[in-house]
Amino acid sequence: MRTQVAIIGAGPAGLFLSLLLDRLGIHSAILELHTRQYIEERVRAGLLEHATVQLMHELGVGDRLKRQGLEHGGIELRFNNRAHRIDFRELANGKCVTIYAQHEVIKDLVAAHLQESVAANHPLLFETTDVQLHAIDSANPYVTFQHNGSTERLDCDFIAGCDGFHGISRTSVPQGVLTTYERDYPFGWLGILAQAPPSSHELIYAHHDRGFALLSMRSPEISRLYLQCAPDENLALWPDDRIWHELQKRLATHDGWKLTEGPVVQKGVTGMRSFVVEPMQFGRLYLAGDSAHIVPPTGAKGLNLAVADVRVLAAGLGAFYSTGATDLLAQYSATCLRRVWKVQRFSWWMTQLLHRFPDDNPFDQRRQLAELDYVTSSRAASQSLAENYVGLP
Ligand code: FAD
Ligand code: DHB
Repeated sequence: MRTQVAIIGAGPAGLFLSLLLDRLGIHSAILELHTRQYIEERVRAGLLEHATVQLMHELGVGDRLKRQGLEHGGIELRFNNRAHRIDFRELANGKCVTIYAQHEVIKDLVAAHLQESVAANHPLLFETTDVQLHAIDSANPYVTFQHNGSTERLDCDFIAGCDGFHGISRTSVPQGVLTTYERDYPFGWLGILAQAPPSSHELIYAHHDRGFALLSMRSPEISRLYLQCAPDENLALWPDDRIWHELQKRLATHDGWKLTEGPVVQKGVTGMRSFVVEPMQFGRLYLAGDSAHIVPPTGAKGLNLAVADVRVLAAGLGAFYSTGATDLLAQYSATCLRRVWKVQRFSWWMTQLLHRFPDDNPFDQRRQLAELDYVTSSRAASQSLAENYVGLP
């Protein structure tokens, strides 16, 4: 097999990249470890920045998003049992964010790939195992893998490592080339999907003595809720009653606001980490999305950052194939990292503002509350939050 760009992984980064390349007339092939059903059902993020929504429309994959996405013009920060709204439309030039589950984005992108016009030049292979990258520092890289019981070889000009944090692309770079920057957090999130109408039109980020809680949603019938928990929390210790009890405590207000409960249909624990490798490129291999960086989920940036990376990569590849220019590709890592580090800062900032750390003392708690008070009462501070939350230009 031969293609121009071999893409490892059919997550948001890989699928968006391949469609962007299609629109530029550049051929690609995606190798995905899992089945179609698995990637279309995996529950993950749910919040799309303004620019991610726009890109879906530009690529012609925004029909369901337009019908089912829930536009949010603000969020609520809740502390001392009181609600404080941050108005994005007013503070961030009319921009807003949209709630639309990541696995719905994946379904839309996969459906676009399977259309005949795209499929011919952009094969999407599921259940490819033992993917290995070869000659990545030469002009003729290639990929070998197992598919349907036989060993295959894919020759290409470039490889896009879009295979997430646990993929093989990053670890295919020779030792000593990449520098890692990371930070672990001493907590995780216990997330549930519940058949319960969301108790608020907008997301609620709650600071509480018992720990952080987040109210989000997936549709007018389904709530998505998160609780700060131990990083290795044992789900067996969290029957539904205990989860609701804890959410009720952490989200309670003084004004009689009610949290609607309902059957829990999905439960999971997510660890939290900040992680970046530099540079995001070696030879003909370009890392994009979670394969190069991870943010803690507070602020919902992971998916959106993956999309921002592949826009930069597609522009570089577009310039290369149309004029032979290599300058944009040469700047790929530096261009992406400017955004990556700003998003790392914002995700860390939201995380430290809202969570309880095991070694916090009363001083730290007072400092957090003072910062929340400042963020919700100063236009400059709330504008900074709004501008980062809807997505930096
Ligand atoms: P991924 O989505 O991880 O896609 C990588 C793809 O590569 C996968 O389909 C994988 O199967 C495939 N792959 C892996 N290894 C190989 C291999 N060897 N060969 C071939 N294919 C391979 N972000 C938020 O903003 N908000 C959230 O609430 C949130 N919750 C999350 C919950 C969980 C449990 C996880 C894991 C992540 C969450 N994220 C969240 C982060 C967000 O989902 C990611 O940032 C986003 O999926 C990154 O997209 P990606 O395409 O870079 O990587
Ligand atoms: C969601 C996840 C987040 O991490 C966040 O900050 C907001 C919303 C969600 O899954 O809906």
